[in-house]
Amino acid sequence: MSTYRISPLAIILTFGLAGAASAADDKNGLGARPGLGLPITNEDIKPWDITILPDGTNLPPGSGTANVGAKVFVDKGCNQCHGEGAKGGSNPALITDEKMTPGDIFSNKTIKNFWANATTLFDYIRRAMPWQAPRTLTDDEVYALTAYILAGNKLIEENVLIDAKSLPNVKMPNRENFIIRFPEKI
Ligand code: HEC
Repeated sequence: MSTYRISPLAIILTFGLAGAASAADDKNGLGARPGLGLPITNEDIKPWDITILPDGTNLPPGSGTANVGAKVFVDKGCNQCHGEGAKGGSNPALITDEKMTPGDIFSNKTIKNFWANATTLFDYIRRAMPWQAPRTLTDDEVYALTAYILAGNKLIEENVLIDAKSLPNVKMPNRENFIIRFPEKI
């Protein structure tokens, strides 16, 4: 004689999901679906909505200068990977004198000779650095580090205050060599 057994999981799947999917249970207004989850709110999205566009859209309040940035660079241990004065260490140099040879795709690409937009520096540092603890810097610290790297690369004067207004106006040397594939989509 064999005993016929129904697994508890089968019972949950059969009755649990069927019940949840009924229109009467549509408390989130999501339609006749399992009704799992909640609509995302603007507050939920805010901490993730940190993309800075090339023209500076979305840059937060705050500011910093190269002088302050030089200190933050050491205090936050950036120098341990990027070397003293950001001249390179176990990880890439952020301050360089290298030129790109026109037509040579193997030239060493650095922030100074390659990056198209200064605003990318703010976005990148804020979201990704320091490598072992991303998203731990304040906006003022990120502005100061951005100023430090720009000034070290001689792209701004030492004493320029970098903020949401001044940063988009810093012109990167390689700016015009990027081709926007779908300009109408920007
Ligand atoms: C533990 C090592 C480490 C530390 C500390 C660190 N970085 Fe980095 N950084 C990296 C690595 C690795 C990369 C390259 C990442 C890649 O290419 O994906 C990088 C890349 C960068 C770049 C882009 C360079 C380029 O040419 O593409 C910037 C800018 C930068 N770091 C800034 C900083 C700043 C500012 C700090 C301090 C707040 C910092 N980093 C701390 C490891 C580190």
